[in-house]
Formats: sequence, structure tokens, C-alpha cells
Amino acid sequence: MKTPIILGIESSCDDTSAAIIQGRKILSNVVSTQKVHQNYGGVVPELASRAHLQNIVPVIDQAIQLANITKKDINAIAFTRGPGLLGSLLVGTSFAKSLAMALNVPLLEVNHMQGHIFAHFIEEDNLESPSFPFLCLTVSGGHTQIVKVNDYFSLEVLGETLDDAAGEAFDKIGKLMGLNYPAGAMIDQLAQLGDPEKYKFPIPKLEDLNFSFSGIKTSVMYFLQKNQNNPSFISENLNDLCASVQNTIIKALLVKVEKAVEITKIKNIAIAGGVSANSELRKKFKNLEITHNCKTYIPKLEYTSDNAAMIAVVGSLKYERHLFTNLNISASARYNL
Ligand code: KG4
Ligand code: ZN
Repeated sequence: MKTPIILGIESSCDDTSAAIIQGRKILSNVVSTQKVHQNYGGVVPELASRAHLQNIVPVIDQAIQLANITKKDINAIAFTRGPGLLGSLLVGTSFAKSLAMALNVPLLEVNHMQGHIFAHFIEEDNLESPSFPFLCLTVSGGHTQIVKVNDYFSLEVLGETLDDAAGEAFDKIGKLMGLNYPAGAMIDQLAQLGDPEKYKFPIPKLEDLNFSFSGIKTSVMYFLQKNQNNPSFISENLNDLCASVQNTIIKALLVKVEKAVEITKIKNIAIAGGVSANSELRKKFKNLEITHNCKTYIPKLEYTSDNAAMIAVVGSLKYERHLFTNLNISASARYNL
């Protein structure tokens, strides 16, 4: 039997994305990132839904064209059901349901956070998928979790953020320093020229595997306020500020990963999500191979931020197991793993 071809659709936040996958091999992956939020310091939900409505048809058309297939070749449609912004999710969900009806093919609902983790199962030359069980640190603009992945569909959240997500901390602190949204990649770039030990910000001391980032943000805010008598303080020290903030956020993340490894005795560890694109986090995470005798899995950059390829790969795994979704399914803004 021919390996099924699946169309994946992602619309949970500010990226409209469509991908075509055959088995675990990506035939195309088109991502359209909405620029409209740049000056607002965060995603404006209403504008995001409208942009998804405009983008979804051309993005899907392009994915089909690039994969060199026609709509008739699609065997199933996978879509992000949640978590995310409800208005954004509704666009992808409604479109996926309608197209599944029109093409008379099965529908596969996917949890966005599982998608991030399972980006590690996309077939890639020279990249090995993690073996079970493994721990995954998923760090994005909306979430920060440590997940124990026992098997394809057996996932346990061991810890998560009690307030802001790691990416949100990058973005909000970036806004305080006058950077555009999303600020993570820019902070990463500027930090490479700065001193990570120049400024000290406190790392939250939570006993368990949960995270908290709002304290770091508040302490950077007070620190900047204290120095506001010098109007060029931020511009003169931007590289050092970025390096110090980044260093603090990474320390707060890795201390929990090390703790999770100690508690679970699981040495297969992965990172996923938009913040896993961070060059210093990737370096320090890899270093756990030496310091903690772990085997690390770091995704290709193109699969760190939101994309439909990661949704399609979960769809493909569900298709193999006949885990189809009823057409009366609805989007779910708070959809737990
Ligand atoms: O996974 P993602 O694309 O979307 C969500 O599901 O939230 O993650 C976006 C987040 C943003 O907060 C962005 O600032 C952050 O990932 N990000 C980074 C880097 N690239 C993206 N944070 C730190 N360093 C980076 N290089
Ligand atoms: Zn995401």
C-alpha cells in the first residue's frame, strides 16, 4: 500500500502554516509569519484571526504545489486543535473540517504542544529521533513545560510555568528595552556581543519542576527604572543587558532539566519550541551530554518555531493507529497534553 499523504494545518498563534507529509518525510512546509503584531509588543488576537483568514488558502495552495501533488492525492487532514488563541484556532479548525468533508478524507486533531515535541520525529538526514522514554523541555512564546514522553501517545507534564512562558519573558523584557515583538531572536543575536555576567537578575527558587519567569521580568523592569536618569543607559549597554537576561532565563530552564533528569533517571533529553532556536540554550543543553551523561536531541532550526510539519507528523502517527477525529470537533484554546 502507498504511504499515506497528509496535509497538516497550523494556526494557533501568529503563524499560518501548511505542510505535506508522506510517512515522516516532509514534502513541503510553508510558514507565513504575520508581521502585523511587530509594533504592539505581542500578538493582537483579533488581527491574528483576520490574517489567518487571508493567508490560509494561499499557504495551503503553495504547500500542495511545492509537494508536487494535487488535492486528490491527500489521504487525511491534520490540524492544530489547541492550545492557542481561540479565534486563530477556529480558522484552521473550520478550514480543516470543511476540506476533509469536501475531499471525503479523514480528519486528525493534533495538540500543538505534542506537535512541538514530535518535530523530533520528522525524518531528517543525520538527525536521530529520541528513543522512549525521553524528557522534553518545550519552550515557546505561550508555554514552558518539562514533559516525560513514555510513548507516542503517553505524555506526562512533570512541570510547567506558573506565570509567563520563557519566550514571553524574552519578548516582554525585549519590549522594556525597546525591541520589536518577538524579541527572542534579536536578544539572542545581541547577546553574542555582550557579557552574560555583567548584570545579575534573580532566578526563582521553586522546589518542584515548575517554572516562573515573571520575577525576572519585574527585576529587569526595576533595574531599568533605576537607571532611567541616563537616557542612553539601555542603548549603551544593550548587548550586556541582552546577554545577562538570556543567561538568567537559560539558567532557570536548565536547573529544572537537571532536576528532572535526577528525579526520573531518564537521560534521553530533548528541547523543542520557538525558544529552542536560542543559540546559547542549544549550546548549554548539548553540554549536558558531558556534565550529566545525557543523550541530547536538538531540533533543526526550521522546526523550532510554529510550523505545520510538526502537526502533520503527529497526524501521520495518528493515521497509522486509526485515531481519526469526528467532524463535529471544536477548537480548544486550553487543550492539555
Ligand atoms: O513556538 P513559537 O514559534 O510560538 C509559540 O507557540 O509560542 O515560539 C515563539 C517564541 C517567541 O517568544 C520568540 O521570542 C521565541 O520563541 N524565540 C526565541 C528565539 N527565536 C524565537 N527566543 C530566544 N532565542 C531565540 N533565538
Ligand atoms: Zn508553538
